Amino acid sequence: MTDHYAVIGNPIEHSKSPQIHAQFAQQTGQAIAYQRLLAPVDGFTDMVHRFIESGGRGANVTVPFKIEAFALAVQRSERAQAAGAVNTLVFESGRIIGDNTDGVGLVRDISINAGVIIAAKRVLLIGAGGAAQGVILPLLEQQPQLVTISNRTLSKADDLVRQFAHPALQTCAIDALSEPYDIVINATSAGLSGELPPLPATIFDSTTFAYDMLYAAQPTRFMQFAQLQGASTRDGLGMLVEQAAESFYLWRGVRPDTAPVCNNLRAQR
Ligand code: ATR
Repeated sequence: MTDHYAVIGNPIEHSKSPQIHAQFAQQTGQAIAYQRLLAPVDGFTDMVHRFIESGGRGANVTVPFKIEAFALAVQRSERAQAAGAVNTLVFESGRIIGDNTDGVGLVRDISINAGVIIAAKRVLLIGAGGAAQGVILPLLEQQPQLVTISNRTLSKADDLVRQFAHPALQTCAIDALSEPYDIVINATSAGLSGELPPLPATIFDSTTFAYDMLYAAQPTRFMQFAQLQGASTRDGLGMLVEQAAESFYLWRGVRPDTAPVCNNLRAQR
């Protein structure tokens, strides 16, 4: 018996998720099929219901449907509630359950794969959109000394700090940033259009670990800028694989080994 899963988005043709989950399935001996589903921008809910009727057991959700997926789920994990968005759906006994594995994917890639401890560190999170909101709770759970959120539109960072109401969380205007941070995370979408958020060079020094949630064949502009200041850098490919692994675990109860899958994806670039 093959169980069916899918990633639903628009656009979807470039998604690496089918490839990642096929490798997880092969590695763990799980009998699953995983496909891409292109939903019309106004057709996400219909697509989910059709997939459930055809026997679908779960789905990943990507741009632009993560907030709709949140609304569709009748039960949501704590981390999905904190993110305000759902990237993983589990279809169980006629119910739609929503979770969000993005933040834990980031934390596992930083702490396990890169070996950078977040506890007691000073963390700068740049950006205050959906990507940033999705990682705040899992970051705070690592007990950093502080997480400063900085965003081009400062009021959005202030809103997030109010929402989470956590003593380690604060905001800072981008042009008021000066001191180096231990960990700097780029959660903006600036890199998608080849741009760099207007960051002062002084937030990096040779001890900084700079993480870009985006990934590309070449180091991103954010990574290049951080490297110029002596920082060590990492792109978001590992986060992509780790969030997939956490979804796989939710669906199958088995944790795949992510390292060979990351290596295969890197070798393809
Ligand atoms: P996502 O789901 O990827 O987070 P989003 O919710 O649209 O997408 O948020 C995009 C984030 O990238 C925001 O923090 C945005 O800053 P603003 O809130 O000021 O719009 C940030 N961003 C996008 N392009 C940027 C740029 N060129 N420079 C700086 N920040 C940028």
